[in-house]
Amino acid sequence: MGEHKRIGILTSGGDCAGLNPVIRAVVHRAVGTYDWEVLGICRSTLGLMARPVQVVNLEIDRVDDLLTKGGTVLGTTNKGDPFAFPMPDGSLKDRSSEIIEAYHQLKLDALIGIGGDGSLAILRKIAQLGGINLVGIPKTIDNDVGITERSIGFDTAVNIATEALDRLHFTAASHSRVMILEVMGRDAGHIALNAGIAGGADVILIPEIPYNIDKVGRQIQKRQAQGKNFSIVIVSEAVCTEQGELVKNMDRFGDCRLGGIGQYLAEQISICSGAETRVTVLGHIQRGGIPSPLDRLVASAFGVEAVDLIATGKYDHIVTWQNRQVVSVPIEAAISQYRVVNPNDTLVKTARGLGICLGD
Ligand code: F6P
Repeated sequence: MGEHKRIGILTSGGDCAGLNPVIRAVVHRAVGTYDWEVLGICRSTLGLMARPVQVVNLEIDRVDDLLTKGGTVLGTTNKGDPFAFPMPDGSLKDRSSEIIEAYHQLKLDALIGIGGDGSLAILRKIAQLGGINLVGIPKTIDNDVGITERSIGFDTAVNIATEALDRLHFTAASHSRVMILEVMGRDAGHIALNAGIAGGADVILIPEIPYNIDKVGRQIQKRQAQGKNFSIVIVSEAVCTEQGELVKNMDRFGDCRLGGIGQYLAEQISICSGAETRVTVLGHIQRGGIPSPLDRLVASAFGVEAVDLIATGKYDHIVTWQNRQVVSVPIEAAISQYRVVNPNDTLVKTARGLGICLGD
């Protein structure tokens, strides 16, 4: 069975559905199979910066109900880079050494970090500085971590966006309107492309394919000429205006929030097609809710494999989903490649084959 280990697990960056099933799988494998201890670190690196450190002992009966729970019971944060942490006096402080100190104080043998590319890059830097045995698990509804075909949370987000499109069809048809659904995806259009095809959108706009508003208008007019009184548009929040500007707001912490391209398009589409338009911004609904069966499966497979990597001493690796299997790769390889939609992607070809307008 090998030597006894004490491992830590944290969830970092934006939450998503599927994080809790990963925590459950890690505990089952580590405690159930290997008889190790698992400490859940609260609120990502913030729990390791706190004094006393904020951790919970994760026993099997504590995680039994996590398979169907959205969010993360450990809490998370997508703010406060530990290398430039915002202090109350407005200054920025490098607090990475506090995290390293906490890891060693807790006598952890390894740490499982569940995060997107940004969080994983930070965790890896800390791990390298502090001799931390890190294993990564990719999560993000945006599905833009390199190499892995799936990141936890993506499938649930696509399901939610697809259901929203299904619902919009009825009200669009009843009022003869063009309905625009704005979905998340900070830099990549995977959610819009996948949900757009699955939900029967007439127009899909993603940041990877520049659009021309007149072509969008023509698609809607073509449908009108065919006697179809409504159209459905799905747009990724990272799509720019025709002038190439991102539509965003700054919050009072100075963080940039994407949002508003749907409203911009609604006005433009109304002008060029004459149609009445309405906008739905799906927002954080996409991150919540019950994890889909596929997210539960991938989360379970990732959790088990991550523990097995620790058992064999394979650190600085991340688990990925490739060709229907879990494959571990160096974390650096996964975070150095950014996985946006390739314009030659099968799904792009599929959308075109279905007559969906991609705006180009
Ligand atoms: O990266 C995941 C994501 O959900 C993006 O799609 C979105 O732009 C962003 O996080 C929203 O972050 P926040 O929770 O800080 O509003």
